[in-house]
Amino acid sequence: MTGSEELKNFGSQAETAGTAVRRAVRLDKVSISFGIAGGKRFDAVADTDLDVADDEFLAIVGPTGCGKSTLLNVAAGLLEPASGTVEIFGRPLKGLNREAGYLFQQDSLMPWKTVLENVAIGLEVSGVRADEARVSAQQWLDRVGLGGFGDRYPRMLSGGQRKRVGLAQVLIRNPKLLLMDEPFGPLDAQTRLIMGDLLLKLWSEDKKAVMFVTHDLDEAIALADRIVIMSAGPRSEIIGDFRVSIPRPRDIAEIRHDPAFTELHRSIWHALRQEVMTAYQQTNVVAQ
Ligand SMILES: Nc1ncnc2c1ncn2[C@@H]1O[C@H](COP(=O)(O)OP(=O)(O)O)[C@@H](O)[C@H]1O
Ligand SMILES: [Mg+2]
Repeated sequence: MTGSEELKNFGSQAETAGTAVRRAVRLDKVSISFGIAGGKRFDAVADTDLDVADDEFLAIVGPTGCGKSTLLNVAAGLLEPASGTVEIFGRPLKGLNREAGYLFQQDSLMPWKTVLENVAIGLEVSGVRADEARVSAQQWLDRVGLGGFGDRYPRMLSGGQRKRVGLAQVLIRNPKLLLMDEPFGPLDAQTRLIMGDLLLKLWSEDKKAVMFVTHDLDEAIALADRIVIMSAGPRSEIIGDFRVSIPRPRDIAEIRHDPAFTELHRSIWHALRQEVMTAYQQTNVVAQ
C-alpha cells in the first residue's frame, strides 16, 4: 500500500484545507461496564465516540468518577469495552496498545535504580543494548532539565523532578500516542505550571497524539488543542467538545490573563458545572 493510500484508509474525519489528518485514536460507540458485587454490573461509560488526530493534544475533563481513567485504559488496551470498537492508527486494537506511552498520577520509578537506570530501562525492555540505552537516557535527562541527576536515586528528588524522570522514561520509547492521567495532580501549583511548560516544549518539538486527563479546567485550556467534557456517571458520555484556538507557543503562566482564555473558560464551565454538582451529590449519597 502506498503512503497516500494508507492515509486515505484512515477515513473521512478531518480533512482540513485539503490535508488529510491521520487519526491516532478512534473510539466508536464505546461502552464500558464493570462487574460489581452481587453479580450486578456498573455501566461507567456509554456509547462514546472520540477521535484524536496523530498530532493533536486532547484534554479530557470531567467530574471525579465520571470515567476519564476508564477511557484512557481502553485506549491503552488495558480494558476491553463491553461494546463498540477501538482503532489505533487505523487498526482495531487487540490487547495492549504498543503505540502508547502511559504516564500516571503516581510515578512508577524503581527506588533501587538510579535516575539514569530508571530512564534507560524503558529502552532496555524493548531490546536496545544497555550502553546505547544509557546514552539515550542521558540525552533525555538533559532534555527534561535533569542532566546532572543521573546518578541520584528517586528518593533524593523532589516531586517535580520525579515527574521529569517519569516523562523521560515514557518519551525515550518514542510512543506515537501519550496517555496522561492527571500526571501533575500531586504537584504544587507552581511546579504544575513548570511541568506543563516542559511538556508543551517537548510536544512542540515532536508532536504526538496526546490524551491528557485532568479535572483542572485551567490546565486543560493552557495545554490542549481540544477539550472534551464528560458527564457525571453512571453511563457517562461526552457532552462537550471545544477547540482551544489560543495560539502557540503559549506562556502557560500568563495565559490565564488572556481574554480568549477567560471566554473559553466561561463556556466550558457552563457545560461542566452541572456535572460537577451531580457528581458531588452522588458522592454525598454514597457517603451517607
Ligand atoms: N474495576 C472497577 N470496578 C468497578 N467499578 C469501577 C472500576 N473501575 C472504575 N469503576 C467505576 O467507574 C467509574 C469511573 O471511574 P474512573 O474512570 O476511575 O473515573 P475518573 O477517572 O473520571 O475519576 C467510577 O464510578 C468508578 O467507581
Ligand atoms: Mg481517574
